[in-house]
Amino acid sequence: MMTRALLISLVSCLVTISKARLINRCDLAKVLQQEDLDGFEGYSLTDWLCLAFVESKFNISKINENADGSFDYGIFQINSHYWCNDYRSHSENICRTECQELLRPNLLSTIHCAKKIVSGAGGMKNWVAWRIHCSGRPLSYWMTGCRLG
Ligand SMILES: *[C@@H]1O[C@H](CO)[C@@H](O)[C@H](O)[C@H]1NC(C)=O
Repeated sequence: MMTRALLISLVSCLVTISKARLINRCDLAKVLQQEDLDGFEGYSLTDWLCLAFVESKFNISKINENADGSFDYGIFQINSHYWCNDYRSHSENICRTECQELLRPNLLSTIHCAKKIVSGAGGMKNWVAWRIHCSGRPLSYWMTGCRLG
């Protein structure tokens, strides 16, 4: 009995953890708006939502290894070679942050870093997936059903 109860609580705990990695699309829209990304450098919330989807499928803790040995972190898949330090390979660390910070559920560090990236030359084109899948396309449906405060 004891073991069974323990197992059940362990399983439900694991389920909670894996769920926590994904953020709901409209919840993400709300955070992005609160952090003033709507219209930031000329990009709308729908651009940011499309970017987050094509980069991470809204997985806050996504990590991906690249062929050059660098890693991409978080909902916007921010690269360790240029933007954050993960102590695995050389980094310019332009955002002055540890890559692990870009995986935090409150999203503040990753948004701060994304603002820095999009403020530079090329804007959102720094994300190849945004250029391919989001740029110049109708994006308004990303906000469908979202009611922002
Ligand atoms: C989110 O990304 C992490 C790290 O890449 C991965 O282990 C996890 O399975 C992903 N979660 C979901 C729900 O896709």
